[in-house]
Amino acid sequence: MIQEQTYFQWDEKYNIGIEEIDMQHRRLVQMVNELYSAMYAGEGRDVLGDVLGGLLLYTKIHFQTEERFMKKHDFPEFISHQQIHEKMKARVLELKKKFEEDKISNPVQISNFLKAWLIKHILKTDMKYAYFYKTKKKSEAGK
Ligand SMILES: [Fe+2]
Ligand SMILES: [Fe+2]
Repeated sequence: MIQEQTYFQWDEKYNIGIEEIDMQHRRLVQMVNELYSAMYAGEGRDVLGDVLGGLLLYTKIHFQTEERFMKKHDFPEFISHQQIHEKMKARVLELKKKFEEDKISNPVQISNFLKAWLIKHILKTDMKYAYFYKTKKKSEAGK
């Protein structure tokens, strides 16, 4: 096994401060590393398809967790965040399909895309509801 962590290194700045979510984000980063490693090792389409399928499944679970959280705390931008999740799920499904049909010449494109998307989404989008939640909690504590 090659050093998985060198491809997508977890950075403390990705922590949004909500433990359950941070744990899931770490797991997602780990899964992108696993995907990359499998591609790098030249694994066959069956193995890669399974890894990709696992990633898609866990991504769905993660989005559900976030959506439940946002709803529970009345996050005002819930709908637009959910739409971003929907788009991403469709995108990953499409990539998986293309991959299975052998329409992707360089599979590392997939892990590169997932890595870039995840970083951007955590830092720009997930941070928003985390900030909202923390601000709300603080103001409730101050009442
Ligand atoms: Fe997230
Ligand atoms: Fe999200």
